[in-house]
Parts: sequence; structure tokens; C-alpha cells
Amino acid sequence: MLAAYAVGYGSPDVLEVRELPIPTPSEKEVLVKVNAAGVTRAGCMMRTGRPLFGRLMLGLFRPKHPVPGSTFAGEIAAVGPQVTEFKVGDRVAGNAAEKGGSQAQFLVTSADGVIVPLPEHISDSIGAVICDGGITGLNFIKVIAQVEVGQRVLINGASGSVGSSALQVAKSLGAHVTAVCGSNNVEYVKNLGADEVIDYRTQNVMNHSRKFDVFFDTVANYSLKRVRPILTESGIYVSPVISWPLLGSVLFSGMFGKQKAKFAATGLAEAKIQRKWMKDVISLINSKKFQFEVNHVYSLSQIREANQFIDSGHKRGNAIIDLTLPITH
Ligand SMILES: NC(=O)c1ccc[n+]([C@@H]2O[C@H](COP(=O)([O-])OP(=O)(O)OC[C@H]3O[C@@H](n4cnc5c(N)ncnc54)[C@H](OP(=O)(O)O)[C@@H]3O)[C@@H](O)[C@H]2O)c1
Repeated sequence: MLAAYAVGYGSPDVLEVRELPIPTPSEKEVLVKVNAAGVTRAGCMMRTGRPLFGRLMLGLFRPKHPVPGSTFAGEIAAVGPQVTEFKVGDRVAGNAAEKGGSQAQFLVTSADGVIVPLPEHISDSIGAVICDGGITGLNFIKVIAQVEVGQRVLINGASGSVGSSALQVAKSLGAHVTAVCGSNNVEYVKNLGADEVIDYRTQNVMNHSRKFDVFFDTVANYSLKRVRPILTESGIYVSPVISWPLLGSVLFSGMFGKQKAKFAATGLAEAKIQRKWMKDVISLINSKKFQFEVNHVYSLSQIREANQFIDSGHKRGNAIIDLTLPITH
């Protein structure tokens, strides 16, 4: 099979397309023929091996699992002898975070891991990113921030994968949403349901006249300290971007004061919880309350270009590698 392969940590130039043996599923694993794989900010961070403490898990000097990518959609091609959940031919989507390997024509993953059946009417492209922005937006808005009807929610970076999902989850819960994005994405976030839009290139978020119950910062260019004046008395600042200052703020605000900072790592939640979130996102798609957009599609041969673009931090919606496109290497 053909697969992306990271020869070390670093810029997109560490990535190559290589011919590798098709992996064999163990007793409780499935082999998936991958049709689409997400290209995500988290994946690009892993490619760089930064922050350095991440290498304790990823591999000290080079990636332990050199085939990148974790989110995927495709078809079951083989099952291990103890697998009862899936059969050959089933359409599935999921996140093979434990070993990665989704940016390849085939991957193996645990049958009881983060993998669910993908309904016929949901495309592989969309299936491949449900576990990126899809469940992350749901986790942060519904579970971590516990947004309620009528609350005012600000989403910074509302045009990205996590932000566009969070915006729609907040709307589905009956919140009033202020979306922060660049001029080029104003119409896009309005179409997703934003009640109000702040263009970060020409307007200052801090000058907003109303206070927010939740400030969801997917760009991480704010902090609890900075946004306190525009938060309600018991408002919360949530961000999916890990950093020492954020962790310090989570700890300190957890002990003192009513305004809190919160963080979570969605991909570290138990597999059965992530499967439930995937099913919730699928229900939102079915109810037409969730419009998933995959606006950037690359072939496996374009793995470096795809990574360069994601590194720029300006993607709109989601990006995938379409494994059904012709591959040259
Ligand atoms: N903790 C978790 O569970 C978890 C899970 C998934 C992802 N993450 C993290 O969440 C972060 C966001 O991921 P993502 O995939 O949503 O990123 P993304 O798709 O690259 O989105 C970033 C968006 O923000 C906009 N933007 C850039 N600069 C901005 C600014 N100064 N103000 C407002 N908007 C700005 C960009 O659009 P423009 O073109 O308009 O600039 C882009 O649409 C990443 O750091 C990722 O690693 C965390």
C-alpha cells in the first residue's frame, strides 16, 4: 500500500510517500481501507514533535508510528478473529489516535476503539473529520462549558474546524453566538448561524459592549486574565490549545474567584465516550442542525502541501487527504 511516512520530526519536508506492507489486524483489530483521512492541526503539531514533552509519548528522536494521521473514514477490509462489532464491507469512521496511520491506503485499529458505523448518506470526507472539529466543538461547548439556552457565547476562530463545529453546537443548544473570524470568512460563519460577527482584522473584540458567558478561544491569542472585563461575573474562558499559562490559569481559577478557565484533551476521553460524541454529531448532521464543510481536499501525493497549508492556521472548515485520488510518488 501507499502511505505518508515521517522520516523524523520537523517541517512538512519530513514527509514522504512510501510503499509499505498492508498491516495485519490482531485478534481484536479491524483493517480499514481508508477513503479519506483528516489533516488536522493536532496532526501537524505531532509532525513537529513540539511541545517537546509530547515526544515522551510520540517517540524521543523520531515518531514511533511514522505513518501520520489519526482521523479516518473508509470501509472494513478484514477483521481479527475476535471482532464481533464489524464485518467486511461496513462503512466506518473514527480516530486511530493510539497508533495513527490514517494517511495511508489501509490502517489497523481496535474494533472497540474510537470507531463507529458511518451512515450511507454521510460522505467519507465528512466522516474523516467528525473526530477533529466535530466532537471537539461538541465536547467544549456542551460538556466543558455546559452552554445553556440564551447564554452569550463568543467563538474566536469560528471559521476553523473546531470553531465552526462549536458555533453550530452552541446554536443547537439555543445560545446567542458571536463569531470572531477574518474578513474573508464573515459570510461563511453567518451561513453557519452566527448571530453576530467580529472581523478580527478590523475590529477589537475587547471593545464589545455586551458581556459573554463563555469565551471559547480556538486561536489561543487571549487568556482568562485578558478577557475578564468582557466575561459575565461567573463567565468562563475555554481553550482547546494546551499551554503552561493556560494550565496555570485553570488551576488558579479552579481555586479562587467565580470566573474560570477550562481546558480538555478531547482525544484522551474514553473510547466509549468519544463514540457517543461521534453519534451525537451524526445526529446533528441528520437533523440538519450541523453543516460540515470540507473545503480543502488533497491527494496523498500532496501530503507536504496539505501540511504547509494547515500550518498557516487559516483553514476554513476542514481539510482531508482523499485516498481515492490518483497517487504519484
Ligand atoms: N484540546 C482538544 O481537544 C483539541 C482538539 C482538536 C484541535 N485542538 C486545537 O484547537 C486549535 C484550533 O484547531 P482548528 O483545527 O480549528 O484550527 P484551524 O482550522 O486552523 O482554524 C483556525 C481558524 O481561525 C482563524 N483565525 C486565524 N487567526 C485568527 C485570529 N487572530 N482571530 C480569529 N480567528 C483567527 C482562521 O481563519 P482566517 O483565515 O480568517 O485567519 C481559521 O479559520 C488547534 O490549536 C488545535 O491543535 C484541540
